[in-house]
Amino acid sequence: MWLSLLALLLFIFLYKWYRQNLKIENLSDKYVLVTGCDSGFGNQLAKNLDKLGMRVLATCLTEQGAENLKKETSSRLQTVILDIANSTSVQSAAKWVFDVLGERDLWGLVNNAGTGMPGAPNEWLSREDFARVLNVNLLGPIDVTLRLLPLIRKSKGRIVNVSSIVGRVTICGGGYCISKFGVEAFSDSLRREMKPFGVQVSIIEPGYFYTGLNNMQFMKDVLRTIWKNVHPEVRYSYGQKYFEHYVHDLESTFISLANTDLTPVTDCMEHALTAVYPKTRYSAGWDAKLFFIPLSYVPTALADYLLTRTAPTPAH
Ligand SMILES: *[C@@H]1O[C@H](CO)[C@@H](O)[C@H](O)[C@H]1NC(C)=O
Ligand SMILES: *[C@@H]1O[C@H](CO)[C@@H](O)[C@H](O)[C@H]1NC(C)=O
Ligand SMILES: *[C@@H]1O[C@H](CO)[C@@H](O)[C@H](O)[C@H]1NC(C)=O
Repeated sequence: MWLSLLALLLFIFLYKWYRQNLKIENLSDKYVLVTGCDSGFGNQLAKNLDKLGMRVLATCLTEQGAENLKKETSSRLQTVILDIANSTSVQSAAKWVFDVLGERDLWGLVNNAGTGMPGAPNEWLSREDFARVLNVNLLGPIDVTLRLLPLIRKSKGRIVNVSSIVGRVTICGGGYCISKFGVEAFSDSLRREMKPFGVQVSIIEPGYFYTGLNNMQFMKDVLRTIWKNVHPEVRYSYGQKYFEHYVHDLESTFISLANTDLTPVTDCMEHALTAVYPKTRYSAGWDAKLFFIPLSYVPTALADYLLTRTAPTPAH
């Protein structure tokens, strides 16, 4: 009895493992567009897909980024300059994609481009601060997706959206977490809409990773500028100590949690693009799996406690 149960479990496990490792055929015919290839996940992914023999269309924010990427990859890889915050730029990049492809299909779209923090207490920020982040992290990917969707529908292909673990658990004020919650919401609705067309939508939820975005010094500089510009009453109420403590916490969280190896994330992206049965959600990084995902299921009061345990106290 126990033995047959064990055999059954083993069989299910092996079957799942086998299914999970089934890869699509003819990777070398498949075009994939990856946004945000100047650095970080996008850069790494573009190189990996190129090595697999896929045909990568890499969008970069800067000429320099595009040049550097081209030097490190095969002649199959093509680049285009794209600022996803700028709808004219999105429009012309989409036109470029249609021109390059001609009659061929676009197999995959990876919405990776994004901007990092500033995560800062909400009261220190302005509408423009929120708008800037939402424009790049939420409206940009929406724009790119909408423009390329006809091509992806035609190929019954894949859309991979890079969200974040903070799309499940809010850990700071500012537009960043909001944008990632938005990415989750859009991906969920689009997944349901696209299913009948045979298009599969996956969401990647990385934990803390060291990428070009979250360069610590840059983040600290941005926070200092924000702090310098807050209303004097706000500065008085929160106090200089609050600010220093906030910066210190941010830094120590990064240092204790940040993964420096980007492969867990790019492996998930690769799986979503090349597996016969991609998953709906991938969490990447040990902090995501062991801390943030469980945190998203605990009662709010407990989550609040855990997330504010070391928070600074206001001066007045
Ligand atoms: C892969 O390519 C070969 C040769 O071009 C073709 O015969 C085959 O049908 C393709 N397989 C798939 C799954 O598209
Ligand atoms: C937006 O992109 C277009 C086309 O690439 C460019 O001409 C224009 O200057 C950009 N606008 C801004 C505000 O960057
Ligand atoms: C990806 O996320 C963007 C928002 O960031 C959303 O507009 C788009 O529909 C999503 N794509 C898919 C396929 O879920």
